[in-house]
Amino acid sequence: MSLGEASDDSQLMAEKTGDNMINFGVVGYGYWGPNIVRNLASLDSSRVRAIADVSLSARKRAHKSYPEITIAADPTELLRSPDIDAIAVISPVWTHYSLAKEALENGKHVFVEKPFTSSVEQAEELIELAQKKRLKIMVDHTFLFTGAVKKIAQLVQEGTLGKLYYYDSTRVNLGLFQHDVNVLWDLAPHDLSIKAPPEAVVATGQSHVNGKEDVAHLTIYFPDHIIAHINVNWLSPVKVRTTLIGGETRMLVWNDLDPDEKIKVYDKGVKVTSRLGLYEMLVSYRTGDMWAPQLEQVEALHSELSYFVECITNGEDPINDGCAGLRVVRMLEAGSKSLSSRGAFIKL
Ligand SMILES: NC(=O)c1ccc[n+]([C@@H]2O[C@H](COP(=O)([O-])OP(=O)(O)OC[C@H]3O[C@@H](n4cnc5c(N)ncnc54)[C@H](O)[C@@H]3O)[C@@H](O)[C@H]2O)c1
Repeated sequence: MSLGEASDDSQLMAEKTGDNMINFGVVGYGYWGPNIVRNLASLDSSRVRAIADVSLSARKRAHKSYPEITIAADPTELLRSPDIDAIAVISPVWTHYSLAKEALENGKHVFVEKPFTSSVEQAEELIELAQKKRLKIMVDHTFLFTGAVKKIAQLVQEGTLGKLYYYDSTRVNLGLFQHDVNVLWDLAPHDLSIKAPPEAVVATGQSHVNGKEDVAHLTIYFPDHIIAHINVNWLSPVKVRTTLIGGETRMLVWNDLDPDEKIKVYDKGVKVTSRLGLYEMLVSYRTGDMWAPQLEQVEALHSELSYFVECITNGEDPINDGCAGLRVVRMLEAGSKSLSSRGAFIKL
């Protein structure tokens, strides 16, 4: 079935819902695309009208899972179709800008994968185009919608950790190598999507396999002595997704691979009790209880995509809009600049 022909099912659905559903076209059905299609298809407020992928094997997989959905080799058919309200761009980073641009030019809202674009300039152009056309952009910062990140944000806002000292994240595994970006652009966007205004970045790294850095360390300086360190690596024998967050009163360990207790809050800290002179400074250590808070169990992508549909319907700007995507791209661009000069200090 091609776009433009309504199936009996979709006519039935349109009658039932008054057809106020958002019709999606999904471009890219590789590793991540199937998760987007599955979640969009499961929402009451959206449906997937078509999937496009340049790869024949991806199209075969898509057809096997969704025989009722139009499958195309050329994304242009979706980007220009009057039957489609929004496009999800789930293809490699270097394709994001041109696909999102064509979608916006054709009056479609855009859900685009992280990182938003390959450069600050491209991101700024897309934001301007969306504003001119009164369309919504959402960048897939999935991380913000996870139960763990929501709980951490709550703990930080409530002051449970006290004044923040540091954020230290390790994201390492073997592969999946991306061919168009280095490990920083692939794995660091998750940590960078947490909203905070950075002052400067320093990055070091090295490439060993395909000419792109596969091991990298990014340091980000924030106001008020807060520092973040992100260790990303495609050449690790084991997968680690662990973040330490240290505050003045409590500390937190987030192990995203722990199925039961992803977050542990430690009532531990350091207290300086005297500052009379350098040699009289007394540091005492406090070691108290540890607890593992309950986390929301809803799939992050489900919450995120449902929120995107809500934003389109209500005319709201998402928290992870084009500007949020641009902020991450700006940090990545500065990180790349620092990386290429072996750790230069880049002010933002
Ligand atoms: N949010 C997350 O947690 C998360 C996780 C994984 C990947 N991603 C992002 O998703 C995007 C895709 O990553 P992936 O791992 O699925 O890559 P992938 O290489 O597995 O899949 C990309 C697919 O896009 C297709 N494609 C390439 N150019 C195209 C074009 N012009 N038109 C149509 N199809 C095209 C390819 O044939 C391939 O099937 C990247 O931006 C990546 O950073 C996000």
